[in-house]
Amino acid sequence: MESRHVHLLLLSYMFCVLILTRAADNIRRDEPLRDGETIVSSGGNFELGFFSPTPTSSKRYLGIWFNKVSVQTVVWVANRDTPLNDKNGMLNFTTQGNLTLVNGSGSVVWSSNTTRGGVQNPIAQLLDSGNLVVREDASENSNYVWQSFDYPGDTALPGVKIGIDLKTGFRRFLWSWKSRNDPSNGQYSFIFDPNGFPQPFLMNGSIQRFRGGAWNGQSFANSPSLLPSPSYKYIFASDPDQVYFTYELIDTSAIARVVMQLHGFLELSTWNNLTQNWDNFGSAPADNCDIYSQCNAYGLCNSGNSPICSCLDKFEPKDPTEWVRGNWSGGCVRKTPVLNCQKEVKFLKYSGIKLPDTRFSWYGRGVTLNSCEELCLRNCSCVAYAKLDTTGTNEDCLLWFDELMDIREFGSSGQDIYIKLDSSETEISTGNSSKEILKKLRISLPLAALSLLSVLCLILYIRHTKNKKKKEEENQNQQRFSEGSSEMLYINKSKNDDLDLPLFDFATILEATNNLSLSNKLGEGGFGPVYKGALKDGQEIAVKRLSRYSAQGTDEFKNEVIFIAKLQHRNLVKLLGCCIQAEEKMLVYEYMPNNSLDWFLFDRRSLLDWPKCFHIINGIARGLLYLHQDSRLRIIHRDLKPSNVLLDIDMNPKISDFGMARSFGGNETGAMTTRVVGTYGYMSPEYAEEGKFSVKSDVFSFGVVILEILSGTRNRGFIHPDHHHNLLGHVWIHFKEGRVMEVINTHLKELCNNLCEVQRSVHVGLLCVQQCPEDRPSMSSVVLMLSSDVPLPSPKEPGFFTSRSRFGEVNSSSSKLGEHSGNQLSITLLDAR
Ligand SMILES: *[C@@H]1O[C@H](CO)[C@@H](O)[C@H](O)[C@H]1NC(C)=O
Ligand SMILES: *[C@@H]1O[C@H](CO)[C@@H](O)[C@H](O)[C@H]1NC(C)=O
Ligand SMILES: *[C@@H]1O[C@H](CO)[C@@H](O)[C@H](O)[C@H]1NC(C)=O
Ligand SMILES: *[C@@H]1O[C@H](CO)[C@@H](O)[C@H](O)[C@H]1NC(C)=O
Ligand SMILES: *[C@@H]1O[C@H](CO)[C@@H](O)[C@H](O)[C@H]1NC(C)=O
Ligand SMILES: *[C@@H]1O[C@H](CO)[C@@H](O)[C@H](O)[C@H]1NC(C)=O
Ligand SMILES: *[C@@H]1O[C@H](CO)[C@@H](O)[C@H](O)[C@H]1NC(C)=O
Ligand SMILES: *[C@@H]1O[C@H](CO)[C@@H](O)[C@H](O)[C@H]1NC(C)=O
Ligand SMILES: *[C@@H]1O[C@H](CO)[C@@H](O)[C@H](O)[C@H]1NC(C)=O
Repeated sequence: MESRHVHLLLLSYMFCVLILTRAADNIRRDEPLRDGETIVSSGGNFELGFFSPTPTSSKRYLGIWFNKVSVQTVVWVANRDTPLNDKNGMLNFTTQGNLTLVNGSGSVVWSSNTTRGGVQNPIAQLLDSGNLVVREDASENSNYVWQSFDYPGDTALPGVKIGIDLKTGFRRFLWSWKSRNDPSNGQYSFIFDPNGFPQPFLMNGSIQRFRGGAWNGQSFANSPSLLPSPSYKYIFASDPDQVYFTYELIDTSAIARVVMQLHGFLELSTWNNLTQNWDNFGSAPADNCDIYSQCNAYGLCNSGNSPICSCLDKFEPKDPTEWVRGNWSGGCVRKTPVLNCQKEVKFLKYSGIKLPDTRFSWYGRGVTLNSCEELCLRNCSCVAYAKLDTTGTNEDCLLWFDELMDIREFGSSGQDIYIKLDSSETEISTGNSSKEILKKLRISLPLAALSLLSVLCLILYIRHTKNKKKKEEENQNQQRFSEGSSEMLYINKSKNDDLDLPLFDFATILEATNNLSLSNKLGEGGFGPVYKGALKDGQEIAVKRLSRYSAQGTDEFKNEVIFIAKLQHRNLVKLLGCCIQAEEKMLVYEYMPNNSLDWFLFDRRSLLDWPKCFHIINGIARGLLYLHQDSRLRIIHRDLKPSNVLLDIDMNPKISDFGMARSFGGNETGAMTTRVVGTYGYMSPEYAEEGKFSVKSDVFSFGVVILEILSGTRNRGFIHPDHHHNLLGHVWIHFKEGRVMEVINTHLKELCNNLCEVQRSVHVGLLCVQQCPEDRPSMSSVVLMLSSDVPLPSPKEPGFFTSRSRFGEVNSSSSKLGEHSGNQLSITLLDAR
């Protein structure tokens, strides 16, 4: 031990001697910067020197990294394509202001190519913004002759301008590294496309992967990952000279970066001084609908739907057979084609969307919405128009001349677009501008209308017969499709080695989780420990290892793999793959940095304000609705509880743990079991007592979760000095007496400015936990009740109202068990019958 310490001391001493940090932030002309020496910017934020990308690499690069960040985070590399093979490189600064990187034998491997005649006394300086500049002279505001911000690698620091100088054609863009070891240009880039209305794009090679959207005056229109945030201020400039995008930090003391990552995601992250980690702030693409043109022409993407793609209203799939199969590459077409300019057309308003790709569109400033419509009406090839600016200060007009691509639903923060349709499209679903056109038509053309009507009738008749045929075909296809999928499920159930899921090999898992070390352990789930890990490409994962001694775990493992591999919803945790090796069985999930809802509710209450709580309640509701109704399998989760709800970086809830889930057929809504599984406190009475489970048992559990979120107390183990009721009974009594606010967690009360929403949520919670399954609302009603003002029925007595019920006895006997095994454990019981 002693000698090891001495060794370490010696080593660190040598390290100190080798790394000579220059006091000045200037690169001197008489003395080159050698490997081992560094230069620190005046404020101490950044450091310039030689480095190897990984400890095992012998290649040397000249680069800039964060000086106050404990993990080496390189932000810029000079010789990306031409590494030095040894430590004999040096950086020279010539009298002409040329920065040159010279290798051991005197060859120049990289040069700034500073081209500026007549510079007398150039200065090379590392600024505190991380920008390495060559300037004309020592004065503060002298011009930059060259700057590293013009040649960003994979990182954009605040102030780096991604875009194009339209005069010289010079482009600045981000390019991912090729690998962790190799900073040369990799597969993904983040660029600015100046065509049409300029937009940022994330490219995979030469293919668009993600579109940032057009700048609407405030943000890149309707891009979930690039929405304005409290920490970042995005800036977009478009003038005849240049088009660019940059960002600033609102808190200038923060340490932040935007990185084009190896695995194809653009990530915004800030340095967390507390955890000594980079916190991921947002990344693009953020979900399936962020993938460029997922649903193709005139397709509408909504990641909350299943399937995520549908056609815009008044449009239909071009290839219906492929479309129902989930192959959306054909896109959609108008039900009634707009044939030529002579025919009457009109515009239909579509609201709440991410505006389509503007690369082939025309943009005009100072054009009112009416003139915009007029312009589009007059040009035969115009298909749609929109007002882009949402700040209300500018009149502007966007016209599209090609198929509309990459549209997604974006709710209340989305924008409006007016799409040209044949005037025979009679029903008007949204907007009223088209109604007005119709009105005008009726007034000005009373006679023409008559002849039009007969033509219309004819068209309608033809379309009707056509549609009928098509519908029949569609129905047949759908039938075939659903038969196919249930068949597949059976195959999977019998032969579970036939899963459509990536297999990780054991060595990869070991490497990612530091040999499943204790320091990587996140917690203990129902069937074994969970570890945090990171794959080679940097992706963070959570590995659930099934205890090899638990025989019951195997079934649950298969179950979970079968179900979750087929489920995709933003409120369900995503399974990345699994690993099976001899006795080891592991599930690999996306890692959820914010832990579980349980942890927040009962350990970090102060971090949850009402908007977050309400967001979480709504998210769980939507996840459950998807399981119950919208997914292909229709699933009852059977073990919903706060510890099975994980939270991602944005506090979006994700339902996890499908070990006990059961699928049920299209018609049946429930079943019986002799094996009662679940967690006491969340189980419905009919399930705990009789083994009957249905979607309504999940509704019950959901109700308990709502009430726990609102009260900040667990249902199980709830004790009140005045009565013997459990949490549900406690809330119900207060509700009946109109004193509902008394049961709300005080912390929540303080942080809430919408008491109405709180009361409504309590009400919905109580409806969910009613004794009788028939009385409980379905999840679709719950989602509606939470999001609108529909009148609510009054709740009847909740199930397991008092602890004197039969459940109470079971509960108290099992709570002893709970003390040893922790209250997160799910239990499995053989029913006594
Ligand atoms: C770089 O600087 C060193 C030391 O001043 C000098 O010997 C060498 O010739 C320079 N190399 C180049 C290419 O300028
Ligand atoms: C320096 O670079 C030249 C040209 O690329 C190469 O031939 C030479 O071997 C390099 N010297 C060292 C020591 O790497
Ligand atoms: C400098 O010029 C050389 C040769 O034209 C080129 O290969 C290199 O990429 C240039 N370096 C920079 C930083 O532009
Ligand atoms: C900068 O140095 C490089 C490499 O020596 C050279 O090719 C280039 O012409 C120099 N530029 C100027 C302006 O001196
Ligand atoms: C990028 O494109 C390649 C080749 O087209 C494809 O194999 C890869 O999956 C793509 N990457 C992502 C993240 O989609
Ligand atoms: C980070 O935290 C340490 C102590 O925890 C403190 O001394 C240091 O000043 C902090 N650094 C920044 C940049 O806030
Ligand atoms: C998807 O559909 C298109 C036609 O819409 C077809 O050309 C293509 O082959 C289909 N792709 C697959 C994988 O079936
Ligand atoms: C319609 O607009 C397109 C694109 O701006 C233009 O090329 C074409 O000439 C216009 N047609 C008419 C009839 O104005
Ligand atoms: C559409 O109708 C709403 C009220 O129904 C009205 O406020 C709005 O001005 C109308 N829009 C247009 C473009 O006429």
